[in-house]
Amino acid sequence: MYLEPRPELCSSSLRSTAFVTPVYSEPSVHLTMYTQYGRTDQPGMPLIEKQSQRLSRCSVRTSTAPGRTVDCTLSEFVRGFLYGGDMFFKRNAAARTNKKLVDTRTQPASRESVAAPRFSDRDLYSLAEKYGTPYFLMDEATLRRKVADMEQAFAEFKGNYRVAYSVKANFNPSVIRTFITEGILFDLTASSELVFILKSGGTAEDVVYTSITETTAEYEEVLRMGVRRIVVASFSGLLNLAEAAAKVNVAVKTMIRVNPEVHVHAELRGSMGHGKFGLRFDGGNEDSATYVLKKILDTPLLQFEGFHFHLGSQVEDPTCYAEAIEKLEAFILDAKRRLGEFHVRTLDIGGGLPAPYGRKVPTPKDLASKIVGQLNSLIESIGDRFSLVSESGRYLTAESTVLVSRIVNIKSFGEAKYVYLDAGYHVLLDSALLRHEYPVEVVPGGKPSQQKVVLVGRLCDPLDVFPTSSRSKLGGASAGKLVVFRDVGAYSLVMNMPFHSQPRPFVLMRDGQGNFSVARKGQDVDRLFLDEGGDCLVT
Ligand SMILES: Cc1ncc(COP(=O)(O)O)c(C=O)c1O
Repeated sequence: MYLEPRPELCSSSLRSTAFVTPVYSEPSVHLTMYTQYGRTDQPGMPLIEKQSQRLSRCSVRTSTAPGRTVDCTLSEFVRGFLYGGDMFFKRNAAARTNKKLVDTRTQPASRESVAAPRFSDRDLYSLAEKYGTPYFLMDEATLRRKVADMEQAFAEFKGNYRVAYSVKANFNPSVIRTFITEGILFDLTASSELVFILKSGGTAEDVVYTSITETTAEYEEVLRMGVRRIVVASFSGLLNLAEAAAKVNVAVKTMIRVNPEVHVHAELRGSMGHGKFGLRFDGGNEDSATYVLKKILDTPLLQFEGFHFHLGSQVEDPTCYAEAIEKLEAFILDAKRRLGEFHVRTLDIGGGLPAPYGRKVPTPKDLASKIVGQLNSLIESIGDRFSLVSESGRYLTAESTVLVSRIVNIKSFGEAKYVYLDAGYHVLLDSALLRHEYPVEVVPGGKPSQQKVVLVGRLCDPLDVFPTSSRSKLGGASAGKLVVFRDVGAYSLVMNMPFHSQPRPFVLMRDGQGNFSVARKGQDVDRLFLDEGGDCLVT
């Protein structure tokens, strides 16, 4: 079977209609699709019509080789015909020869997540030659695989499940474009992020907008740009949204961001003791979920959509999600008793899935196995078959990217060997702020050094020392060799700053076929000079 690429049908229209056109007739193509309305079988049908419903899962069986079947999610399927066509199906079919077509909603295919991408030493050196060091290198296949991992993990959730990409983690347009073609949602916090989505080919329809400032002007701006799903987190924010909706004269699906005040075991916590984000269930004043819910129900242009919480980033124990859902359930049941009829259409459990950074951390499957049963019971107890959204920035992007820098000098100082890089914390600010250690290795490696190795950056700042441990592979370090930092795709490119007049480095992307292209041009020092105010100098 060969599926003709139809990229124009795989981005914004992904959730309305998608066509699969075989180049030659393949009578035994068999598509099994799972939508929120149940399962559809389309033997021999080369057309998938979704009509404003989303395919949650899709299995494809072909007779390319008799007895072979392919089970895949919609995103894999779309990716398959967009990026791999026949190859994709052959590869998957080969891996599953003679495997019966299964209902993947009840029996998710057991595919393990791939490890972080590997790039050959040869490629790393030739890219260094061409683009200079340091440079960032992203891997498109890893970005796509991360979406598939999340979708697969939640396959047993009874309602519709959507992944939302938290654009703040990495707003590179090539990354955004990749996620657009995966058909996922976008979690945004600024109208400027919306501009990035729209310019990358996405639509405002796929946005969940969670403002921190919640001004009328901001709400009015994003409503005019087409956003219709907004999360409010304060009573005055809600009034501002109502005002903006009236000005623009549009109905808004309105969600309430609650702070369930649970203890979170994470590097960055946003729940217990942190009042910046979300509302108390009952704070004893207007800034309470109860008041806000009642006000939404009383405001004609605001349609109550559901609840949202975000517990933190790099959450290393998923128990807090279960606790938050339990508290939310009690709140909803009580509110239904007191306020009468309302329906929860969406529950957004925020982000926080951790990236490994060289350690064992909970996977999406671990999170899902902790909460999917509970969420399915919640559907029963509140009587609303809500859609589930889970957001992610770090998990979706961290492992996709490496930072490649060069060793420029070596010095002995006492017992230690100081290895100087041409990178510094200005390109890895996330690690400097959180003091977390990225997996790092010298390429090509060598025997572990007898001396203690201290990896330092090029900035004139005592803080510019990279955290390393026995996990770091620093053997064989010598001037001229490359050093690769792994898992740097989240929150580092976006915090890239020009400390010491350092121009921003190139960002490269390896696509699904293994070709390298530029995803962000490197800045030269003349450009930096102008951007930093050189163009304001009066001559
Ligand atoms: C509301 C919200 N959702 C999602 C995220 C993404 O978090 P993570 O990258 O840890 O998944 C954040 C991060 O700050 C956030 O504030």
